[in-house]
Amino acid sequence: MNTTAYPFSDYQNLSDAECQSRIEAAKASLGKRLALLCHHYQRADVYRYADFTGDSLKLSRQAANSEADYIVFCGVHFMAEVADILSRPEQVAILPDLAAGCSMADMATLTRVRRAWRELASVLDPDQHVTPVTYINSSADLKSFCGEHGGIVCTSSNAPKILEWSFSQRDKVLFFPDQHLGRWSGHKMGIPLDDMVLWDWDQPLGGLTPEQIDKAKIILWKGFCSVHQMFRPQHIDQFRATYPDGKVISHPECCYEVCEKSDYVGSTEYIIKIIAESAPGTRWLVGTELNLVNRLAEEFKEQGKIVQFMAPTVCMCSTMARIDPPHLAWCLENLVAGQVVNRITVAREDAELAKVALNRMLDAS
Ligand code: 13P
Ligand code: SF4
Repeated sequence: MNTTAYPFSDYQNLSDAECQSRIEAAKASLGKRLALLCHHYQRADVYRYADFTGDSLKLSRQAANSEADYIVFCGVHFMAEVADILSRPEQVAILPDLAAGCSMADMATLTRVRRAWRELASVLDPDQHVTPVTYINSSADLKSFCGEHGGIVCTSSNAPKILEWSFSQRDKVLFFPDQHLGRWSGHKMGIPLDDMVLWDWDQPLGGLTPEQIDKAKIILWKGFCSVHQMFRPQHIDQFRATYPDGKVISHPECCYEVCEKSDYVGSTEYIIKIIAESAPGTRWLVGTELNLVNRLAEEFKEQGKIVQFMAPTVCMCSTMARIDPPHLAWCLENLVAGQVVNRITVAREDAELAKVALNRMLDAS
């Protein structure tokens, strides 16, 4: 067995065909010791190798129940962290390119959230009145913060249900990092928009007055997804003017105005399900990442369904797209040779409390 890992430089210039045959051979050699998980946004030339596909909730359940020695996560960093937290200690979570992060997740850091918690304490006792809720698109230390402070994790497919749980614990919620998912989920629960305030981490007291905080039901972190913010209400208006019978479906990371104008709003798994169940001949405008929309367009073409992308510009999750066939071939062939590259390990002290917050979510949803 080798003792040194193969360097990535040996892989970066491989042709597509060579990558393909080497990935297939490595997968065959690893067999059931490997579980290759792909998020729905993963590029097509990687997605084709998936053993399991899903949205972030489904994939976190998959990671929790996997029997494989190696969980290779073709997604972004926080997803591989969740796989490490929920899997058994002897299982290994791997992210084929460590640069595959989530820009939204980076908008909430532990330092900023701790400061917000301290500043909130000048107005009320947050541990009595505020449930911290973190979107799964966040680092493990923020999930740990939520575990420690009676809070919980949510995903885009269970956020309203998780908010219900949160309000059964305390009378306010601090929701981070995605303002749009928080606002839309609060709205779906019947909370007036005026009762949701925006916390700007660059301003003292989030740019709010003590009175605003006192009155608020949900304090929304000012984060957003750079991909989903590209979809605008006028894209929907133009579509409806041209195709009055067309249907519109969006991910809840889109802004409130886009969600409000959509016929359906939900996670990537929900978007796939609704389009799959629609009648042949339906025309769809879809507000989510381009790789998924292209896949849907291709898959449902035969049923006469027309699936089109919401924005005129290319909106891809460019960080997830860093996981390409050369990186996948590199990490799989190293595993075959007994070398683990790009292992994602969450520090035990964070992992335990993060698991508390994740399990609260899995139990509540
Ligand atoms: P899903 O929960 O639909 O997988 O969304 C995750 C995500 O990152 C969307 O941008
Ligand atoms: Fe993060 Fe947006 Fe990419 Fe989702 S699409 S992983 S929120 S950057």
